[in-house]
Amino acid sequence: MSILVTGGAGYIGSHTVVELYNAGYEAVIVDNLSNSSRESLKRVEELTGKQIKFYEADIRDRQAMDRIFEENKIDSVIHFAGLKAVGESTVKPIEYYDNNIGGTLTLVQSMRDHGVKNIVFSSSATVYGDPAFVPITEECPKGVCTNPYGWTKSMLEQILTDMQKADKEWNVILLRYFNPIGAHKSGRIGENPNGIPNNLMPYITQVAIGKLDHLSVFGNDYKTHDGTGVRDYIHVVDLALGHVKAIKKLADNPGTRVYNLGTGVGYSVLDLVNAFEKVTGVKVPYVITARRPGDIDACYSDATRAKEELGWEAQYGIEDMCRDAWNWQSKNPNGFEA
Ligand code: NAD
Ligand code: UD1
Repeated sequence: MSILVTGGAGYIGSHTVVELYNAGYEAVIVDNLSNSSRESLKRVEELTGKQIKFYEADIRDRQAMDRIFEENKIDSVIHFAGLKAVGESTVKPIEYYDNNIGGTLTLVQSMRDHGVKNIVFSSSATVYGDPAFVPITEECPKGVCTNPYGWTKSMLEQILTDMQKADKEWNVILLRYFNPIGAHKSGRIGENPNGIPNNLMPYITQVAIGKLDHLSVFGNDYKTHDGTGVRDYIHVVDLALGHVKAIKKLADNPGTRVYNLGTGVGYSVLDLVNAFEKVTGVKVPYVITARRPGDIDACYSDATRAKEELGWEAQYGIEDMCRDAWNWQSKNPNGFEA
């Protein structure tokens, strides 16, 4: 029995495939390579020592999806495939709704018609909007998202929940990620953003390596200990291990379950810069600039439920995340491109 990993060539997907193999599972990957490369798959094979079955296909392509379920004995699906650039989603909302929502609808129809009713879905802490309270438990009400990307996550959670309500054979796990950073400790796979990064850690590593001149710290007047935004950064390998635990949990009673995947600890932008400089010995020049629209003061998890029900807890700390992000960036200054 195999796990189908949609978006398995991407940042979180590639790390998850490695951990699935480490835990004794087999994976089949489907990815249209719109935000990833064959090189990442090659390196996953190198790390696992296995040949991995890969379909270059779009999850919106019903025929291609049917073929995958017909040709393989798939037990469960981990569904990462989606577009994820917040800023781009505000200028291309139709493309985002089409890809993320349309793609998921095609995927689950194909799954249902092939009797595969176990799915783990990549959601995000973005569904909490400006959270009603921190640390954020899963009981925290969902909020108003500030961009179409966030809405696709919020809507897909609803769609998958309704689907399970109507057909109790479905097993749905919604994983709300906080801020994944870092890379596999080998330095062979990692995050490979297109163009100038939007997210903090890849921006820091690109400043550190000299590709970018300095970091702009978006605001220092937030209600936090040093005025800069606080987030719950989580090592991507911890996140990957959370998916392995979720796959095990799917074997329990059917239902829809939701889990925060975070460390439970919040760090500010300057905390992250300081930790990075301490671990790597490399200076990260920065200037304080205006707030970025849509940003909030603080967002960090209460991850108790994942610990109690999945037996999962983040193992890596902020210094591990900085060390591994830098190891990846410095060994691969141009990402997966030679
Ligand atoms: P990523 O872009 O590296 O990976 C997504 C993969 O999906 C890519 O390889 C891309 O080529 C593929 N893909 C996109 N649309 C597809 C389609 N229609 N058909 C087939 N493949 C398609 O992103 P990631 O950081 O690994 O994120 C994985 C998932 O986790 C996404 O759903 C993302 O929204 C979600 N998520 C990510 C973060 C984060 O900070 N990285 C935070 C919360 C949630
Ligand atoms: C962002 C998205 C969120 C998405 C997540 C992971 C927004 C509003 N939210 O979260 O939906 O799930 O990425 O992809 O875009 N910062 C700087 N300078 C920079 C970059 C960031 O100071 O150059 C600050 C931000 O203001 C924030 C923190 O660093 O306080 C983290 O930012 P980022 O890495 O972009 O993540 P989020 O905004 O938390």
